[in-house]
Amino acid sequence: MTDFVRIVEVGPRDGLQNEKQAVSTADKISLVDRLSATGLRSIEATSFVSPRWVPQLADAAEVFAGITRRSGVSYPVLVPNEQGYERALAAGVEEVAVFTAASETFNRTNTNAGIDESLARFEPILRRAGADGIRVRGYVSTVLGCPYQGEVPVADVVRVARALHAMGCYEISLGDTIGVGTPRKARQMLEAVAGEVPMEALAVHFHDTYGQAIANIAACLEAGVRVVDSAVSGAGGCPYAKGASGNVASEDVVYLLRGLGLESGVDLEQLAGIGRWLAALLGRPTGSRTGKALENA
Ligand code: HMG
Ligand code: MG
Repeated sequence: MTDFVRIVEVGPRDGLQNEKQAVSTADKISLVDRLSATGLRSIEATSFVSPRWVPQLADAAEVFAGITRRSGVSYPVLVPNEQGYERALAAGVEEVAVFTAASETFNRTNTNAGIDESLARFEPILRRAGADGIRVRGYVSTVLGCPYQGEVPVADVVRVARALHAMGCYEISLGDTIGVGTPRKARQMLEAVAGEVPMEALAVHFHDTYGQAIANIAACLEAGVRVVDSAVSGAGGCPYAKGASGNVASEDVVYLLRGLGLESGVDLEQLAGIGRWLAALLGRPTGSRTGKALENA
């Protein structure tokens, strides 16, 4: 098992999509550019969803045009449908992420489509992406609970993850959208999915509503996952998931990895500085415990 853990920094997308405070296009570009200098290999830059549904990221094309792409770093963007794929392609992206859920009600609330309907929407995207040389990541939301349905059967998570992988997604990110998971359940869910999709093709994506995200990540690392999604300063949340809070903070993940002797290639001090900068921009204290500790050290 490799000691390298790839962090997928989702702050510029998941972190800002639910933000009440208006963030300027220039600041979004600055956020991505600052993150690009920390050693991160994957930075989810923005989202080409409907601007009516997520007005916060209506400037996706401008943001993508403004960032300085560093070699060795990938900049995936969210796309919900072919229209989003076309906007992303026109912006010059090299990687997109499609998203669906393990819970039918949540998926309808988030994308106005049932799970199978959304999988059908992705088929042409995957086909075109193959021809266009675009890599596609896939998300499964509500893997440990749904704000509308409550418990989500693990079999439903496995089914959707398997479908995305079979369709050609190179990596499947398993999202605890509302942050209700606890370590044993998180590990069991991951292991069940890994029975059908290779562990090397899986990522975990925890929101920290109940303060369990770092514990969940530790349990999933023990089970063998080597890709972790997180957001600098712990920003984030899905506007269509009632009660969802921020993502696990990237600074806290890097600190955890360091302590476990795992390598992320990310400069913790630099990342923590960006977390403080972002928190100041959003007018609130950082959501990263590590960020706070380093500030006071
Ligand atoms: P809809 O209203 O059913 O779309 O929304 P439609 O196809 O009927 O089109 C209606 C209008 O939207 C049309 O415009 C389209 O052109 C336009 P009109 O003719 O009325 O002027 N439209 C678009 N415009 C720009 N870009 C597009 C696009 N698509 C349609 N891509 C849709 C369906 C899927 C578009 C909508 O529900 C949507 O955008 N949903 C996204 C919601 C979202 O972004 N949620 C957060 C991301 S997911 C998440 O956070 C979870 C994750 O972090 C993992 C986890 O934590 O679990 C990934
Ligand atoms: Mg999320």
